[in-house]
Amino acid sequence: MSRREIDLERLNTSLVGPLADEGERNAEVSLRPMTLKDFIGQAELVRHLEIVLGSARARHQSADHLLFAGPPGLGKTSLASIVAAEMGSGIRITSGPVLSRPGDLAALLTDLQDGDVLFIDEIHRLSRSLEEVLYPALEDRRLDVLIGRGPSARSIRLDLPNFTLVGATTRTGLVAAPLRDRFGFIGQLDLYDPAELSVIVTRSARLLGIELREDAAQTIASRSRGTPRIANRLLRRVRDFAAVHDHERIDKVVAIEALVLFGVDNYGLDKIDRRILQLLCDQFSRQPVGLTTLAHACGEEPTTIEDAYEPFLLREGLLIRTPRGRIATEKAYRHMGLAPRGGGLA
Ligand SMILES: Nc1ncnc2c1ncn2[C@@H]1O[C@H](COP(=O)(O)OP(=O)(O)OP(=O)(O)O)[C@@H](O)[C@H]1O
Ligand SMILES: [Mg+2]
Repeated sequence: MSRREIDLERLNTSLVGPLADEGERNAEVSLRPMTLKDFIGQAELVRHLEIVLGSARARHQSADHLLFAGPPGLGKTSLASIVAAEMGSGIRITSGPVLSRPGDLAALLTDLQDGDVLFIDEIHRLSRSLEEVLYPALEDRRLDVLIGRGPSARSIRLDLPNFTLVGATTRTGLVAAPLRDRFGFIGQLDLYDPAELSVIVTRSARLLGIELREDAAQTIASRSRGTPRIANRLLRRVRDFAAVHDHERIDKVVAIEALVLFGVDNYGLDKIDRRILQLLCDQFSRQPVGLTTLAHACGEEPTTIEDAYEPFLLREGLLIRTPRGRIATEKAYRHMGLAPRGGGLA
């Protein structure tokens, strides 16, 4: 095996899960849309957001607190930066799992400048005690800080500057109801359709200086599981493949050859997707399977299966959720080249 081929092997990791490679993460950041105009798709959400931000600007006030929800890689973090850019304000970025003590959050809040955006990623993972610090901060822009311990402890009240909290979560249902109620706007992001992804891939190719034919952009788009992050990753893998094989221009034939090499099938399903379907169709005697069992059998975390893999399989009608567990549909059996299950499902 030549060295160049070994490099391709190294990059052949899961296309859906988190990015391990630092270079890959940087490439992703460089492709982030910076303005609402650059943000492709999610038309209704963008329209509503334009109104929310436009009216705040007209009133010379901070925008309402905003929550973005949706599966990984659909643009929640991008939208948080866009909100700050559109409002001409600074942004402070943190995440639910990183903040462990109320003092951490208090320090962040008191350090905000007037009009800043505070972005809390994975906001559903904030602890209860931190949520309680947040409530008065969101409602009255004040912070109650406890000083000292025991009988001499006293609480002082600090006024906070105007700020906009932007939260991101994979599912709104995971955010505690009292916190959810304090957002003025909740934007639900849905999987993108292939035409939108094709525009995204074409834009990314232009930014990366890749010569990509329209049919190749469509091929990548239709195999990206409705997800811009995956579309951009596939584009970079196709570019690597083309470089190794000295193809200057990428057309549909080159794109398909590359995607097959990286284990992406004509539906855009990767190894883990096919493992999930194979387990449901074959190994578990075609019985409903619980999420935890399925996750263990795939060597993935249950939340990864639920947040990153299932939305696409559900949308494509390859899998259904029942109270007793997950079931593969007839379409899944056909896709996996297996005889359909006897019951005549879906
Ligand atoms: N609407 C869009 N238009 C163009 N590119 C997009 C769009 N949405 C996402 N992207 C691209 O996809 C990448 C991933 O998006 P982003 O990091 O904002 O997703 P996310 O929803 O925050 O994901 P996670 O839940 O994993 O944090 C971005 O770097 C950007 O290149
Ligand atoms: Mg994000």
